[in-house]
Amino acid sequence: MSALMPTYRRAPVTLVRGEGLRVFDSDGRAYLDFAGGIAVVPIGHAHPDWVAAVAAQAGRLVHVSNLWSTEPQESLAERLTGLAGFGLAFLSNSGAEANEALLKLVRLHGRANGGRTRVVALEGSFHGRTFATLAATGQPAKHEPFAPLPEGYVHVPPNDVAALAAVVDGETAAVLVEPVLGEGGVLPLEDGYLSAARRLCDERGALLAFDEVQTGIGRCGTWFAFQGTPVVPDVFSLAKGLANGLPIGATIARAELAFGPGQHASTFGGGPVVCAAALATLDVIEREGLLANAAAMGERLRAGLDGALAAAGLPGRTRGKGLLVGASVAPARAAGVVAGLLERGFLATEAGGEAVRATPPLTVDAASVDGFVEAFAGAAAEAAGEAKKGASA
Ligand SMILES: Cc1ncc(COP(=O)(O)O)c(C=O)c1O
Repeated sequence: MSALMPTYRRAPVTLVRGEGLRVFDSDGRAYLDFAGGIAVVPIGHAHPDWVAAVAAQAGRLVHVSNLWSTEPQESLAERLTGLAGFGLAFLSNSGAEANEALLKLVRLHGRANGGRTRVVALEGSFHGRTFATLAATGQPAKHEPFAPLPEGYVHVPPNDVAALAAVVDGETAAVLVEPVLGEGGVLPLEDGYLSAARRLCDERGALLAFDEVQTGIGRCGTWFAFQGTPVVPDVFSLAKGLANGLPIGATIARAELAFGPGQHASTFGGGPVVCAAALATLDVIEREGLLANAAAMGERLRAGLDGALAAAGLPGRTRGKGLLVGASVAPARAAGVVAGLLERGFLATEAGGEAVRATPPLTVDAASVDGFVEAFAGAAAEAAGEAKKGASA
């Protein structure tokens, strides 16, 4: 019996160690990690450079209040804004916090620009579990038990320009999107849709905000997913992959949108150890050419999974960008395929109920991708057979 709240539907495995693409359970069994902590471990487990950077910083300075400046924090902010090509950064501890800061920034700007307070977000989106990020999340079933939520969030279907044009008006502070909806089933937004969103925001005086918590840090083959689209947001959030597994969030905004003294804060945000971990992560991604690897391995993975779906007689296709990949397995259950993958020695996750999601480290190689595809083919064929049996029973 666990003393933890039963928040997560957990697979019956206790993981004790990780090394590169592999994790090991308490019985010593190895798994190829195609979950990667759900897009959190871009350079793989226990990368020696990352371990050395964290250990060195832990022995030097772990915490001082943000009332004093530290070198790792200043360096990380400079690095991130340099990679983005604009802005100033606020550092926090999670995706929800990075989005909470983003939503507060948007509110500040909107109030100063004609009292705009509304945020337009997408149906099926996921932005976090705090009250404001939950309100921004376009999944009513997640709202209902916690009502009332903060007001001022409206949701429109993704990739529908007319629906967006119908709601962005003089009360809109921002349009908030994930460039690829992650938890919502790995659904990329089309370039045309993003261009239209940028244009509508510019014409109607709203900000364009990107939630890059899952898509950022090379996941989609560019440092930030927006860099693979025709648009640049006014503000965006990062978290998951940034420190390769230590808790961090970042909100990067055009300089004129930045918080002033006293408007926002975090005790632990941007601490020296996590910033050293993030700097080491960015160094490894750069030095090992992992952006190009994410793009190439993502293509290989999608092509392989498409072939496996066809062979299993499943009508679905794969979706995604870089190494954020979803394979739609309906009418089979994604949970069944994920369980079948675990039996075969692979970790993966579900997304949106009908898709199996693969978010391996960006260090993944061709042999591992091919091994995953083969295991997926077996698990999908098994699940498709069960779905057929269920339908005819
Ligand atoms: C796009 C997106 N935004 C926000 C979050 C929330 O991040 P966290 O769980 O770190 O609060 C997630 C987490 O899955 C996410 O995928």
